[in-house]
Amino acid sequence: MRYGVAYYPEHKTPEDLEHDLELLISSGINTVRMGEFAWCRMEPREGVYDFDWLEYVVGRLGEAGIRSILCTPTACPPAWLVYRYPEVLYVDNRGENRPFGGRRFYCYNNEVYRKYSARITEEIGKRFGRNPYVYGFQIDNEPAQEASGRCCCPVCREKFRKWLRKKYGTIEEYNRRSGSIFWGQEYESFDQIQIPVNTIETGAVQALPLYYENPSLRLEFERFASESQIEYQNIQEEILHRWSRRPVTTNGTGLATNSIDYYESTRTLDCYGFDYYPGLRDARIDSFPYAFARGIRDGAPFWVMEFMSGGGHKFGGTGRVQPNPGALQQAVVHSLAHGAEMMLHFQFRTFPFGAEQLNYAIVDMDGVPRRRYREMKDTAALLKKLEPLGKAGFENKAAICVDYAVHWALRIKPVNDPDFRYLDYAGRLYRILEEQGCNADVISYGADFSKYRLLILPAAFILEEDKREKFRNFVAEGGILLATFLTSVKNGDNVGYTDILPAGLTGLFGAEVQEVEPILCRNHNQVRLNLDGEEFVSTDGMWCDLLEGSAKALGTYESDYKKGSMIISENAYGKGTACYLGTDLEEEALGALLRYLCRKSGIRRNAVKAGGRLEVTRRILDGEEYYFVFNFTAEDAAAETEVPMYDYLKGCVYEKEIPMKRNGFAVLRRMS
Ligand code: GAL
Ligand code: ZN
Repeated sequence: MRYGVAYYPEHKTPEDLEHDLELLISSGINTVRMGEFAWCRMEPREGVYDFDWLEYVVGRLGEAGIRSILCTPTACPPAWLVYRYPEVLYVDNRGENRPFGGRRFYCYNNEVYRKYSARITEEIGKRFGRNPYVYGFQIDNEPAQEASGRCCCPVCREKFRKWLRKKYGTIEEYNRRSGSIFWGQEYESFDQIQIPVNTIETGAVQALPLYYENPSLRLEFERFASESQIEYQNIQEEILHRWSRRPVTTNGTGLATNSIDYYESTRTLDCYGFDYYPGLRDARIDSFPYAFARGIRDGAPFWVMEFMSGGGHKFGGTGRVQPNPGALQQAVVHSLAHGAEMMLHFQFRTFPFGAEQLNYAIVDMDGVPRRRYREMKDTAALLKKLEPLGKAGFENKAAICVDYAVHWALRIKPVNDPDFRYLDYAGRLYRILEEQGCNADVISYGADFSKYRLLILPAAFILEEDKREKFRNFVAEGGILLATFLTSVKNGDNVGYTDILPAGLTGLFGAEVQEVEPILCRNHNQVRLNLDGEEFVSTDGMWCDLLEGSAKALGTYESDYKKGSMIISENAYGKGTACYLGTDLEEEALGALLRYLCRKSGIRRNAVKAGGRLEVTRRILDGEEYYFVFNFTAEDAAAETEVPMYDYLKGCVYEKEIPMKRNGFAVLRRMS
């Protein structure tokens, strides 16, 4: 595993640099990431390049066995570029220019900016492409982060119009498919189309909150902006790949920003890279983002380019609490357990200046190595022992299916927000499944379904016929499918289906939606589940798709006018079974339902019991089962095992109970 930190040599005096290099070298880490904000030092004047300072550091680290990840610096163009070409500036949905002075203030569609970005990338490729100490490259920094992924400048507007024209051919076709007749909005030409003024971008400000724009146009703008940024990224990708054989990636924001479709953007990259900042003080680290990361490339290892390093100050707000002793190490092993091949802390030493002054790092501003540094050092040593396990495979037989169009559409037209949030709900299903002893992958609708026995399809709000067919085939061939409320409601144009819902799938589920409503505090009802004779009762939640049909009712309503109506259905279809969950359930009942489906699909449950704050992940190496168990509580705990387990690190055997230290972990091999 590549393990290390982000580092900023361009900030340092020569003495500080020496001090830091010594600490870096003696820590035992093997990777350092640099350069993502240093354009003004790499090209201090137009066409004048200076990489000596960087090459020196790469060399010093390299001679000591530390490889570098070099970044292209395009998140922060230098002053000379911006003042010479002010048209490269980012314009937000309110029409506000982002002035020089922060970061990520460029338009990714601007040709001038693209040209200068290509040039600096080319220089980096030329200079470092074959440097033996360079491990790989990162393009830009967190594309789309801090509300920088939906530029609305005149260049973007023109390009968006062209993009629509290319997709639809004629304005009549666009009018028809987008339902422009609603509120009498039919366009005469593409030139009349404006970028929507309201946005779903995380952290952006609405321009006109009570202004309801066409949802089809809004979804198209999401797609266009995502594609534009991928195009921008690929200009750099192509250049770096021309100059180097080393892996090229970028650092996405995982499930935080969601302005770029990572399934698409990672196609040309060598792996998916992302940043993750979970809390590490008495907190369970959510592994859903890791499962998502693994699913981007069909199970391939991914890179964590930035990860928590400590607490203290923050940009603003409350600040950030320190990790428990042991929590940093636990978190690093946790990422390895879920398929990370690279893990870099952000960042090595606290900045005294700039917007991130005083913020968290491994080493404090004074440069004195303390407990977090020591923990990083111990972790670097530990990772050498765990190295062989990095190669272990995942043989998960269950997967949760997610999709960007669905995610965007549910933000454009939220459904019982904030109770129901699409990705949170997918994450909830993932976690509850894990607690039933079943680890799941997270995959796109386009993924290969053939290796799975159980697919979970949360709220597939937009579902097109080619995908519906994939799900039908999956079930026909023997798979078990659980779809939830809000499935197959709209087509890819973000327009509602006029068929009976779930559109195109009523045959698959043997059920038809009779009526729908949000579940709020005043209309809760009880659901009775009958799963192979075992009964459970649960309050409903979030949403209700009331069902009727030939399917078997696994769950029915208990009272009010819904009494006796089906809310969970099960239907035999071909060689498999398709279930529809019309509402959310409480954890116990949802767990029971998922357990029932695992049984039905013949999935073998994990031999170590998860639950509460204990997380269990199974990996397979040379035909043997390994379990990574994490105790995310601040207290000692014990995990239960059904069969004897060999402790890979301690060399002992547990028959039934595995002692777990506070923020501890165990790596176990199944013995029988
Ligand atoms: C990330 C960013 C880093 C740093 C970090 C928080 O979003 O990529 O440059 O700002 O957050 O400290
Ligand atoms: Zn723009």
